Amino acid sequence: MPYKTAQIRLVSSHPEVYEPCDDSFALVDALLADRTNLLEHKPSICLEVGCGSGYVITSLALMLKEEIPSIYYLATDMNPHAMRVTRETLQAHGVDAELINTDIMSGLEKRLEGLVDVMVVNPPYVPTPEDEVGQAGITSAWAGGEDGRVVIDRILPVADTILSERGWLYLVTLAANNPSQICRSMREKGYASRIVVQRSTEEESLHIIKFWRDPEVRPSLKEASTQNRSAPTRLGESLLSQFSRFSFWKSSNGSGSL
Ligand SMILES: C[S@@+](CC[C@H](N)C(=O)[O-])C[C@H]1O[C@@H](n2cnc3c(N)ncnc32)[C@H](O)[C@@H]1O
Repeated sequence: MPYKTAQIRLVSSHPEVYEPCDDSFALVDALLADRTNLLEHKPSICLEVGCGSGYVITSLALMLKEEIPSIYYLATDMNPHAMRVTRETLQAHGVDAELINTDIMSGLEKRLEGLVDVMVVNPPYVPTPEDEVGQAGITSAWAGGEDGRVVIDRILPVADTILSERGWLYLVTLAANNPSQICRSMREKGYASRIVVQRSTEEESLHIIKFWRDPEVRPSLKEASTQNRSAPTRLGESLLSQFSRFSFWKSSNGSGSL
């Protein structure tokens, strides 16, 4: 195989740091499924928000490093232990990234404004009481507050600021997060979206959604607002039908496009 992902036996750990799990594997599978597009995309800067063990950013670096060795990688996490763990995971695989211990992208937004070509996020998405969000330690790995959306809803505007004009965002969401509503709100900012991987287990249904700026998105919204304020756009109709299709699809893996 000409490319690899991080090996679990080489991924470092700490009791307070999220271990790679089904959601991490689904995100890496989505990146692998999109690898040919990523290579053609030729990103200059790739970023992970909430890197935890470093499994995802290390896998992304490994799958692109042969063809595009010049990519600059960054990863942030609010958990200070994640910095050491991610550093060790990167080192064990012979790749590198700048690591920043911060809340989402706090202190970095000016520096990276409009520069990030690929952003990957496996956020805390589990619906929990609001006061569990952002707590120290392992709780912050999953606690997402109401509908699991508190951290996601803070990340989306940041993504809009730091993504380059051709930037892509890969986001893990749970059915309870209302992913079709997330796509609608991103569409209002001019982003198209596509489900790259969908996975359902007894407990949860995960979607890995890719977002990118699409010049055709804004005109269709304007058109819809002048014709009929409540009418969904063609893109929106297609997206919603895609989510309803997936909600009935209980296979373990899949992908779909708008
Ligand atoms: C579900 S875990 C994902 C970890 C890793 N990316 C993976 O896929 O295995 C979510 C990560 O986001 C981090 N996190 C939670 N809230 C954050 C915030 N406000 N800013 C930065 N990182 C955050 C957690 O510490 C945790 O490492």
